[in-house]
Amino acid sequence: MLIQPEELSVRQMYAYMVGMITPRPIAWVSTIGPTGVTNLAPFSFFNGVSAKPAALCFSAVNNRDGSPKDTIRNIEATGQFVVNVVPAELVEVMNQTSFEYPPDQSEIDSIGIEVVPSQLVRPPRVKASPIQIECQLIQVVKVGEGPAAGNLVVGQILLAHVDDAVLNPAGEIDPSLVDAVGRMGAADYCWTRQTFARPRPESA
Ligand SMILES: Cc1cc2nc3c(=O)[nH]c(=O)nc-3n(C[C@H](O)[C@H](O)[C@H](O)COP(=O)(O)O)c2cc1C
Repeated sequence: MLIQPEELSVRQMYAYMVGMITPRPIAWVSTIGPTGVTNLAPFSFFNGVSAKPAALCFSAVNNRDGSPKDTIRNIEATGQFVVNVVPAELVEVMNQTSFEYPPDQSEIDSIGIEVVPSQLVRPPRVKASPIQIECQLIQVVKVGEGPAAGNLVVGQILLAHVDDAVLNPAGEIDPSLVDAVGRMGAADYCWTRQTFARPRPESA
């Protein structure tokens, strides 16, 4: 089968993309708007960018009417966000935050999610998340325009809070203790409970 984006509707192409690019980590992004309304939403177009500066990225596509999502509006207004990692036990509440609440309604307050203040940025952190990453905006790269166009947010990691409970005796982050979930195609998720190691080759 060949997939040619020009021959497909946005919905069809999106469905193929989320099936092609798997598994995807999930950034559960907290922001705060100019009037102080907090916002929390998941994004699986998410990954690392560089180690120096320590930077990550995620992409929020525009709404069906072509307007940017609240997360993008808030980040463009304030330059700050927090990425919270999603362990399996938080999947239901994370999914609930993907409901499109109006901009003046906080997912955090509406659902009753416990948050704690960040140290270097104004958006709060999700208390139950084992890894919370405070970020400062570097750049929003606009990819296209109108409905479903991308807003690739590149952010510098200012400070990461890692729960000591997910560290191994060597002080490294143990994925089996984080128990992060990933996003697959359609409405599917995956666990990260079966891992394997392959050291990088030392010669060709
Ligand atoms: C697991 C999951 C992953 C998602 N990933 C993305 C994504 O990568 N980009 C995107 O634009 N929307 C994504 N969404 C949908 C947004 O979370 C949803 O549109 C949300 O309402 C946006 O919130 P906001 O308008 O408050 O920013 C995802 C939803 C779920 C449940």
